[in-house]
Amino acid sequence: MQEAGVNLVSLAIFAWSRIQPDHDSWDFDWLDRIMGMLHEGGVRVNLATATASPPPWLSHAHPEMLPVLADGTRLWHGARQHYCPSSPVYRVEAGRLVEAIAERYGHHPALAMWHVGNEFGCHVPACYCDVSAQGFRAWLKERYGSIDDLNRAWGTDFWSQRYSDWEEIIPPRRTPTWPNPSQQLDYMRFSSDALLECYELEHKVLSRLTPDIPVTTNFMSFFKPLDYWKWAKNEDVVSNDSYPDPSDPESSMKAAMAGDLMRSLGGGRPWILMEQTTNRVNWREVNAPKPPGLMRLWSYQALARGADGVMFFQWRQSRAGAEKFHSAMVPHGPVASSPAWHEVVRLGKEFRGLDVVGDTRAHAEVTILFDWESWWALELPSKPSSAVRQIDQIEALYRPLYDANVMVDFAHPAADLSRYRLVLAPSLYLVTDEATANIEAFVAAGGVVLMTFFSGIVDDRDHIHLGGYPKPFQDLLGLRVVDFHPLPSGQDVGVLFADGFLARGSLWSENIEVNDAEVVATFASGDLAGRPAITARQHEGGSAFYMGTCPDGMATARVLQLACSRAGITPAAETPQGVEAVRRGAKGKSILFLLNHRDVAVEVPINEPGTSLIDGSDVHRGLLRLEARGVAVLREGW
Ligand code: GLA
Repeated sequence: MQEAGVNLVSLAIFAWSRIQPDHDSWDFDWLDRIMGMLHEGGVRVNLATATASPPPWLSHAHPEMLPVLADGTRLWHGARQHYCPSSPVYRVEAGRLVEAIAERYGHHPALAMWHVGNEFGCHVPACYCDVSAQGFRAWLKERYGSIDDLNRAWGTDFWSQRYSDWEEIIPPRRTPTWPNPSQQLDYMRFSSDALLECYELEHKVLSRLTPDIPVTTNFMSFFKPLDYWKWAKNEDVVSNDSYPDPSDPESSMKAAMAGDLMRSLGGGRPWILMEQTTNRVNWREVNAPKPPGLMRLWSYQALARGADGVMFFQWRQSRAGAEKFHSAMVPHGPVASSPAWHEVVRLGKEFRGLDVVGDTRAHAEVTILFDWESWWALELPSKPSSAVRQIDQIEALYRPLYDANVMVDFAHPAADLSRYRLVLAPSLYLVTDEATANIEAFVAAGGVVLMTFFSGIVDDRDHIHLGGYPKPFQDLLGLRVVDFHPLPSGQDVGVLFADGFLARGSLWSENIEVNDAEVVATFASGDLAGRPAITARQHEGGSAFYMGTCPDGMATARVLQLACSRAGITPAAETPQGVEAVRRGAKGKSILFLLNHRDVAVEVPINEPGTSLIDGSDVHRGLLRLEARGVAVLREGW
């Protein structure tokens, strides 16, 4: 570990059955020994609460704590995460375990941070058992107060679903056809909250026993089942697990986007890349290895996007168990012949000289409005088009900005937007009055908004905002959508810009009636030929762009360029294709990260002379050569 520059280890994540071999015995000797060894070696510990995989003795004695799927299938022990989040037995026993671990190690000199559970919801995001049903009813009583209000919120007159007693209400289990959408939406909220209660239960024990030790739990990038905005509020440090597919050409963009989300979840605070591979995972159909340099490159990318720590799953590749073919820092074979080991050692050496990066932050002037509740509601079934997916629509706007080296944050639609100049709202289907007022105020104060189709359609009960689509934003955008014309897969439509540039739109089109907006582009083929496709409304303060289709990449980039230039946004640097440029800064210090995602060397124009933080060399104006998957971290002018 010292050779690799390891200074923090996550420990005991799946050790419950080792620590507590039965209900009344505890075995800490082995853990004492490891904690002691790490301490002597100068390595700190991110100690797990070990609650992610209950021991077989517990579920054997209490099978009712095992989770149940929507179709009634019970999931048994023998893998991991086999617990119902609402189970009182699980919660009591998890609490006991955390208490015992915190009492034993809370003042251990190696302890740096607590790691609660592990990847909450990863395998079992929701449980549909009778205990969960009870929990759901209690949650609903809290939310609605009366059964009449619940009936109204769920629109239960439709299909004779009216409830006359709380006891009749169950989770949205397997039904003959679509379960009530408002019920499904509430079940997603409840399930995210039920797991958050498990986290909170542990967090409370830890902050009582060790108020000065920071607490984290590892997130999973854009993980749909958990509303991480709510979760992140309860974490001292946001941490993330990131496993982009090395064989997917878009992985770098996706990993950048996940990093931007983590930074945003923490309100701009530094985050930790908690898990990544040195090389291969074991859980895809085909598990491509990382080519030389890619692990190092993606580690630097995390730093560039605001992480102050980079870790790996896992230290030593296991000999047995379901993950024995998952790569590790120490492989099955000798380290001397492992390219991944040598890359880890190199990275560890380089990172020792990068402390100064920790004094800086990554900042963005553009933000994407992102709301888990809207994502859940958007992707419930029975829509004009089930091909409209939240992450695809976010990526459609993120991609051109990533390619142009424009840094992007994510923000909840009701969050303070005053630090941004440009706000993007990709298919923001569900909006509350609060969010609407927030977006309007942003534009009134001079901000630029770019909204895309199927935004502002429903309220937080998944009821249509009546009065023509998108009712909340008709004034802001200066238009009304008469009806949706979604496009079948493989069918696209011409989109003609005012200057004659002809593009294609896919996935969606719609019949837009403009009241007071400039038409940036019109549909050029199909039933809607000649009608507006992309518009912009000038306000006294800022402006509001709207796209009623999903234009091809070039056209989307064009609209974004227009929006960026109205908002006065400039890129971090101009770089050749495939080279990412990101700047971190603070108090007159500026650090430029240049990341070559291509598998050939490139030359990057440098405008500001600087010093390489990796090898100390001077970097002059002119062209800087970056090797294939090479990286430069430059101190600019200080
Ligand atoms: C997750 C888990 C780890 C391990 C890895 C494998 O990140 O937290 O325990 O299973 O996946 O990629």
